[in-house]
Amino acid sequence: MIQAVIFDLDGVIVDTAHYHFIAWKRLADELGIPFTDKENEQLKGVSRMRSLEIILELGHAQLPAKTKEELADKKNQWFVEYVHAMKPDEIFPGVKELIAGIRARGMKVALASSSKNADAVLTLLDIKNLFDAIVDGTMIKHTKPDPEIFLLAARLLHVSPADCLVFEDAEAGVEAALAAGMKCVGVGSVYQLPRAHYHVASTANFTVSQIEKI
Ligand code: G6P
Ligand code: MG
Repeated sequence: MIQAVIFDLDGVIVDTAHYHFIAWKRLADELGIPFTDKENEQLKGVSRMRSLEIILELGHAQLPAKTKEELADKKNQWFVEYVHAMKPDEIFPGVKELIAGIRARGMKVALASSSKNADAVLTLLDIKNLFDAIVDGTMIKHTKPDPEIFLLAARLLHVSPADCLVFEDAEAGVEAALAAGMKCVGVGSVYQLPRAHYHVASTANFTVSQIEKI
């Protein structure tokens, strides 16, 4: 029976996935590398540097490590600018209520995001208090699809991985959840996330009573 629910952040709780995309798109345009929302799917859930490397691979480009650091920093500055202009009401509708319902039924709730900006985003949205545990990109060695982030979240919650349900919008995130031995709700279509156990168009479309039946 599910005892804990672990949420990804970008694209699951708030539409920051869009801000990551437009910042990477801006950089890819500057580099002259064709980049659309289709290619962007590969960037979801992975680290900042890995994202840049994927874009460079798409453009068959190779750059020195120092230049890559500079480009990744530049993208991050744009992302931080976009996020600071965000309003607390940009959290996806129904998410707070879903989390409150999960907690009211005695299940634990964690956040597990590969982003090093996760703490800042949660603070801007004023939602840190919704979670019993928060794991972000500053706390892990390997980002998704490695299971490390979800296994750490389960450990912090004192819940066995098999009793955890993950909400993910990224292919790398679904793979990480499966590798951790957890059940996974894919936020997106079955075509985008074929390996997730369940699918919803939006996080809050999955109800607490559905979770209790897993
Ligand atoms: C999340 C997002 C990715 C992002 C990564 C690193 O996993 O889905 O799109 O690249 O975090 O985020 P950061 O804020 O550390 O650059
Ligand atoms: Mg995500």
